[in-house]
Amino acid sequence: MNDFNLDEIKIHKMKFGDVDQVYAIEVDTFPTPWSKSSFLSQILRRRFNLYLVAKKDNEVLGYAGMVQRSKEGHITTIAVKNRFKRKRIGTILLIYLIKEAIKRGLVNLYLEVRESNKIAQEFYRKFKFSTIGRKIGYYSDTNEDALIMAMDNISNSKYKDFIFKIESDLLNK
Ligand SMILES: CC(C)(COP(=O)(O)OP(=O)(O)OC[C@H]1O[C@@H](n2cnc3c(N)ncnc32)[C@H](O)[C@@H]1OP(=O)(O)O)[C@@H](O)C(=O)NCCC(=O)NCCS
Repeated sequence: MNDFNLDEIKIHKMKFGDVDQVYAIEVDTFPTPWSKSSFLSQILRRRFNLYLVAKKDNEVLGYAGMVQRSKEGHITTIAVKNRFKRKRIGTILLIYLIKEAIKRGLVNLYLEVRESNKIAQEFYRKFKFSTIGRKIGYYSDTNEDALIMAMDNISNSKYKDFIFKIESDLLNK
């Protein structure tokens, strides 16, 4: 059972002051974590990058990032604090990224995911992403392949309705 209501969670652009908490989640989550300075430099590029945090009061519960390249959005990261996983925080963050990508007129979204990371693949499939390719040995720490997952034509009205439906179901729970 959730120990909070989803409406207590606020989504903000990631600020310098969030980076210590973001980094703590990053280290807990990924075998080869980004450094603090990587996050700082990513959030400085405000025009093409969007980095978000999900917060309850002052606690960062999760974060996500997207880098815009022409009409494509590259989802570079998403993670939720262990204790708060499977409580829809990832969903809220991804909805924000997708809505912002639609607002910016992007055509598609893509990302790389470890082949062994079935949970993340399931998560993205829920948002209709599908596997479109593979990067052999992309993760140099384990030499694991990355699957490339993508969602094309995000601005079509069916997909927009689908995203708004997920959002309204969340808000009405
Ligand atoms: C992937 C991640 C961000 C999902 O965030 P979350 O807040 O825990 O997920 P949500 O509660 O929003 O779940 C949404 C859907 O994702 C899938 N999902 C999430 N956790 C899952 C799990 N443990 N097992 C199977 N499916 C899962 C389900 O389809 C779920 O919908 P459902 O609960 O109705 O079945 C989170 O698991 C995480 O931080 N993982 C580690 C970091 C990572 O792998 N990032 C992606 C790198 S590419």
